[in-house]
Amino acid sequence: MQFTVAIDGPAASGKGTISRALAQEFGLAHLDTGLLYRAVAMKGGDPVAAAQALSPEDLKRADLRSLHAGEAASRVAVLPEVRAALTAFQRTFARRDGGAVLDGRDIGTVICPEAEVKLFVTASPETRARRRWQEAGEGNFAEVLAQVHARDARDTGRADAPLCAATDAVVLDTTDLSIEAAVAQACALVSARLKG
Ligand code: DC
Repeated sequence: MQFTVAIDGPAASGKGTISRALAQEFGLAHLDTGLLYRAVAMKGGDPVAAAQALSPEDLKRADLRSLHAGEAASRVAVLPEVRAALTAFQRTFARRDGGAVLDGRDIGTVICPEAEVKLFVTASPETRARRRWQEAGEGNFAEVLAQVHARDARDTGRADAPLCAATDAVVLDTTDLSIEAAVAQACALVSARLKG
């Protein structure tokens, strides 16, 4: 069975939590595509060469979830050659037998426009900054908010595969939603699509 759930959205919108919950609930494989860009950035050296030589070992680094890695990932992600080097792996993962959930910025628009379910998960910049700040346990709030704004501007403003909702995506704004409520809405969507 091929069944792809594409989840896009800005940093700290809740898309990772929702993706993991969907994968668990429906027995789907999960790929956090942001980790690929984070691993490329943290490998150092020429980012294009790093993307072309990316290995499963690179995805196991302990520092990939740091604020620094996220910021660095956003910078290498503007390079079309980096994106191109990571495309085939993501496409194959998306269409693997048994179904998959992928979360990122361009899954429903570029990586898997044929996805059976597309969600665009978002929240206000202030809410996302607060989540990131609490989760990271480092930095100060004003700095994290400035980073969120800068990251949004870079991710939505780049020429190649910018962050945007696919025209056929369902938008889920989590600003005033609990995790449970957001997950329940996403599960209902997937369930309805699976039933056909
Ligand atoms: O989802 P994240 O915070 O781990 O992503 C880190 C950066 O990687 C993000 O700011 C932009 C880039 N990215 C991307 O360009 N395309 C994706 N599909 C996933 C992440």
